Amino acid sequence: MSTENKYNQYKGDMMDRRKFIISTGGAITSLTLFGVDAFAALPKLRKKSKYKIGFAQTESNNPWRLAQTKSMKDTAAEYGWDLVYTDAAGSAAKQVSDVRSMIAQKVDVILLAPREEKPLAVAVKEAKRAKIPVFLIDRNVDQKLAKAGEDYVAFVGSDFVKEGRICGEICAKVMNGNAKIIELQGTTGSSPAIDRGKGFKQAISSHPGMKIVASQSGDFARDKGRQVFETLYQSHPEADLVYSHNDEMTMGAIAALQAAGKVPGKDVMLATIDGTVDAAKAVMSGKAIVCVECSPKFGPKAFELIKRLADGEKIPTIVGNIDRVFTRDNPKWVRDKYGDLAWKAEDYLPEAF
Ligand code: AHR
Repeated sequence: MSTENKYNQYKGDMMDRRKFIISTGGAITSLTLFGVDAFAALPKLRKKSKYKIGFAQTESNNPWRLAQTKSMKDTAAEYGWDLVYTDAAGSAAKQVSDVRSMIAQKVDVILLAPREEKPLAVAVKEAKRAKIPVFLIDRNVDQKLAKAGEDYVAFVGSDFVKEGRICGEICAKVMNGNAKIIELQGTTGSSPAIDRGKGFKQAISSHPGMKIVASQSGDFARDKGRQVFETLYQSHPEADLVYSHNDEMTMGAIAALQAAGKVPGKDVMLATIDGTVDAAKAVMSGKAIVCVECSPKFGPKAFELIKRLADGEKIPTIVGNIDRVFTRDNPKWVRDKYGDLAWKAEDYLPEAF
């Protein structure tokens, strides 16, 4: 058979396969569409002096998100590039439609902070089909549904498992391996909630006396964290440690403890993640044992990566943040374990957001 005939036969076979798959129903169809995407190369970025960048934010109800948005807006202004900014107001469905609207507006690049791992994978695939490069900023998508280096350029952010592990390690040491723990989880289905839970559990697994007595989502929000903690603490008054997936929920738990006549840092210890001004102050005053950093200041890194992509550089699939560890006194055992990353909360405070 000639090469041309072989090619025609191959094309025919592929058409028949697609017809078969499409006729067998929605589930298989979408799986196949995902499969077809996986073979296409990542979209390229043409070199230009000015870009239109889409930034799809998840919500704006906490200092972390506000600091992240500010960092993106400031950096766009510095570069003189246009920024199309959307706020999903805490809805994964709205964030998917925000990305669709960016695709319709033909932005050059999408910076997406996916609220939840599964629903936003769909938006990532759609952007790829529209040949728009996507960087996932701060949160990831489910790797079974969309992959870095195949469907989007890279994940840029923190190692959430490590953040949780550090909290667990420090808590186990301070509590001498014995604690009844209430865990305030972040948004259900989000990568930081999944991974911070995993890391903490890994760290305490070698300490049989460290027991999680209750665990529930406070959706990364201060007042929700307060309400959830209040309920969990009423059913578990024996709890003497709170592990919270972010500073806002920690502040909620502190308010609830104080309202119940308890002294945070004495009756109940707290460990937290992010690095807000309030959390740094809570560590300085002894209310919280530790705050592990998760920086929201992504603008400079994200925009530099866009330039590198346009230069034709191969971008690593994970561009990691380096998170510091803030304690009140930065004792020797913390410095020995975390080296230069171990800081006094007081020294960090001027940088806090
Ligand atoms: O994805 C990072 C997390 O999202 C931060 O810890 C939290 O404060 C934010 O809402």
